[in-house]
Amino acid sequence: MSVDKFFTLKDGRGIFVREAFVEDAERLHEFYVKVTSETEFLITLPEEVFDVASERNLIRIYRSSYNRLYLIAFYSTQVIGTLKLAGNRRKRVAHVAELSIAVKKDFWGLGVGSILMQEAIEWAKEHEIKRIELTVVDSNERAIKLYKKFGFIEECRMKMATVLSDGFHDLILMAKLL
Ligand SMILES: CC(C)(COP(=O)(O)OP(=O)(O)OC[C@H]1O[C@@H](n2cnc3c(N)ncnc32)[C@H](O)[C@@H]1OP(=O)(O)O)[C@@H](O)C(=O)NCCC(=O)NCCS
Repeated sequence: MSVDKFFTLKDGRGIFVREAFVEDAERLHEFYVKVTSETEFLITLPEEVFDVASERNLIRIYRSSYNRLYLIAFYSTQVIGTLKLAGNRRKRVAHVAELSIAVKKDFWGLGVGSILMQEAIEWAKEHEIKRIELTVVDSNERAIKLYKKFGFIEECRMKMATVLSDGFHDLILMAKLL
């Protein structure tokens, strides 16, 4: 995906989506500090977010890996969502990619998550990915709906695998075969 792609959200606003560049590290850092403070459904806490230098390194790794994708959704110059597909380094499992996604709360329910998912699945099909997998907290209804909409299937539950403010929760392992 070398050029920006433009999309219209459900409220009529326009966004564009492109791959991350090293120059995006600072605004990505700000984005992750914000989104991790807005939801409990991301494993990372705000104080655990990568610093800018580590974020830069991560982007470099994604840009230099044939089976990794780091997508950013922008509203004007503001980062409003990200999606990462992390293909495995080892050859026997290089066709498997782990998916992670986050959207700024102000933009939930407007189609950003669906746009990022659609783009990532298209990219995966063109890059030898045969299985996309992820884990999701059992009470994260919005995310589970998004994943089911794109054909992800629940494979198993990891009991008490995460803890939120209301106590322990299961993590659901979901996967889509391409
Ligand atoms: C989960 C998340 C990525 C979804 O992104 P989004 O931009 O809100 O997603 P969309 O607007 O494309 O909506 C996707 C689906 O969610 C469902 N949905 C939308 N609003 C909803 C609501 N209020 N309640 C429940 N489900 C809802 C719908 O099925 C929708 O599909 P549809 O519009 O075709 O009906 C986003 O809410 C988010 O970042 N949440 C916090 C971080 C997180 O949970 N990440 C995933 C960790 S596994």
